[in-house]
Amino acid sequence: MRPVILLLVAVLSPLLGAAPSRAAVRIEVAADRPGAAVSPTMWGVFFEDINYGADGGLYPERVKNRSFEFADPMMGWTISTPVGKGMGAVTVASTSPLHAKNPKFLRLELPQNGGVRLANEGFFGVAVEKGERYRFSIACRCDAAVPPEIEVTILGKEGRPLGSGVIRGLQPGWKSREVMVRSTATDPKARLVVTVTGTGNVDLDMVSLFPVKTWKDRAGGLRSDMVQLLADLKPGFIRFPGGCIVEGHHLALRYQWKETIGPISERKLLVNRWNSEFKHRPAPDYYQSFGLGFFEYFQLCEDLGSEPLPILNCGMACQFNTGELVPMNELEPYLQDALDLIEFANGPTSSPWGQRRAAMGHPEPFGLKMIGIGNEQWGPQYVERYAAFSKVLKARHPEIRLIASAGPRPADDLFHFLWPKLRELRADIVDEHCYDRPAWFFDSASRYDGYDRAGPKVFMGEYAAQSDKVVSVLNRNNWECALAEAAFMTGLERNADVVVTSSYAPLFGHEEGWQWRPNLIWADNLRSYGTPNYYVQQLFSRNRGDRMVPVAIQGQVPATAAAPGLYASATRDDSAGELILKVVNSAPGAVKAEIALTGIRRVGRAGKAIILRSDDLRAENSLEQPQRVAPVTETWRPTGPVFIREFPKWSMTVLRLPVKR
Ligand code: AHR
Repeated sequence: MRPVILLLVAVLSPLLGAAPSRAAVRIEVAADRPGAAVSPTMWGVFFEDINYGADGGLYPERVKNRSFEFADPMMGWTISTPVGKGMGAVTVASTSPLHAKNPKFLRLELPQNGGVRLANEGFFGVAVEKGERYRFSIACRCDAAVPPEIEVTILGKEGRPLGSGVIRGLQPGWKSREVMVRSTATDPKARLVVTVTGTGNVDLDMVSLFPVKTWKDRAGGLRSDMVQLLADLKPGFIRFPGGCIVEGHHLALRYQWKETIGPISERKLLVNRWNSEFKHRPAPDYYQSFGLGFFEYFQLCEDLGSEPLPILNCGMACQFNTGELVPMNELEPYLQDALDLIEFANGPTSSPWGQRRAAMGHPEPFGLKMIGIGNEQWGPQYVERYAAFSKVLKARHPEIRLIASAGPRPADDLFHFLWPKLRELRADIVDEHCYDRPAWFFDSASRYDGYDRAGPKVFMGEYAAQSDKVVSVLNRNNWECALAEAAFMTGLERNADVVVTSSYAPLFGHEEGWQWRPNLIWADNLRSYGTPNYYVQQLFSRNRGDRMVPVAIQGQVPATAAAPGLYASATRDDSAGELILKVVNSAPGAVKAEIALTGIRRVGRAGKAIILRSDDLRAENSLEQPQRVAPVTETWRPTGPVFIREFPKWSMTVLRLPVKR
């Protein structure tokens, strides 16, 4: 300890009631030397439609394969004949469809007093809640003189009807019809039964059962419990729609944002690239209906006060699959997609794409400021394509910051090849991806201390500690992983002048339908919860602060996996007039530290300590115990600008102190 500080502590301690310094470790916080601004996009979320994150998750359509466009058009459906009715014929037809992008539909040919019973199994069941209303809608046409009628029943797991409705008066042309059905019971595993009875031909498409209760009660809106978990994170940005899903196994199956907007019956269904990616977790019924499309992503960002961060295909299919390339002289449509996206998000309503946005109900611009060029690409082919995007976009839209990929790993040959090239190309931000064991995260808290301050900024775009190994089914969202991420994140925050955005990946996992783990948030058909990793993200995000504050830890060797100890970072929240200190203790025992806030005259009385901890490194949250590892807030009276605090073993603590300089 420096003599002048020792003297100060000795003089002030009795006055301020501070405990005498008996701690071996000292955390010096240069509260009078706030540094660079912490970017509002520092802590965000990365959404990808993996693990049934969209269809079967955030997008709460209950009917699987509602448009009969899956490769097997009857997947999810079973057909039978209602008791006492003549058997109708059911075929998949495509003559005069509802829309050219939705070419298949179901044709029922009913004999005299005929009937067809169609049952849909939903996504891991059709989930309903007691007392809630569900909007059943269907596109239908019928040329019979006396039109058949459609009866809709929600059938509980035990075979008991939980609610029903009837649609009559079908007409000769395609028409969307709907009826409300209220469920009398909660059942995550019900089925939807659609019974058509009468005589003649009936065509059916876009069969939908949608909860009325959605986020902001929007018709066809998002699942509110899952969005609420996102809202509670206060994410600075939302990256979408992926992930490898942007790239596709090959280019014909890449994500194309223009196919995801407009009326939902005109959004062209696409097979989900996670459908067949992992032999050990096949998901043959995993498709993208795009009910959650680019408009909805932008709207979600607006709802949550988050910056939109779309990632676009840059003319490369997934390099873990075919790696198919668009020849450079055929890249133009991809470049145009990027330009049109900027117009869709920001353009005036007089522009063609601005008009499309307005037609969807949002004349105001969405305020797009960043775009990612390619997801997780590498090699000279990527550099060439990134350069082409950069040239066009920088010339036409210098206001948009471009994010470039540094490949799939944080320090391999691909990474070291890309960084200098991207520096030369003056990329605004470089996207690094890190999936590794907890030890890597404990060891990498100083990763950015030596980064070039003059080059591109960093987007720590995908990271998550893997309790086993990458792509292992054994990975768990346990407290050890979360603690390791917390230690690492103190390093991101201490380097907020270089690291301007970051996000954990992936975001959502369905308990019955995951392909990848760990995930930040888990859900089943009706419930969802945040993992310990989620609460770590939340503590950083909700206690972001505006400016970095230098922190130095003395009296211990820098903490690593082999030498557990304290990690720390600090910021100032200017509007609240608070200093925010985050301390992670990775040691298996409590550590007492003297905290010295330099240049601070007075510390207010109403301090707050938020503590996230567990005595069990294997502790996890679950649907049954969603708060097993969750933050606890204590009010606390700081004794002065120098004080002693004990940090429990395996803990993360956020201290918020009102300070006066
Ligand atoms: O987060 C899961 C996958 O990991 C992402 O889709 C991809 O970008 C990375 O390889």
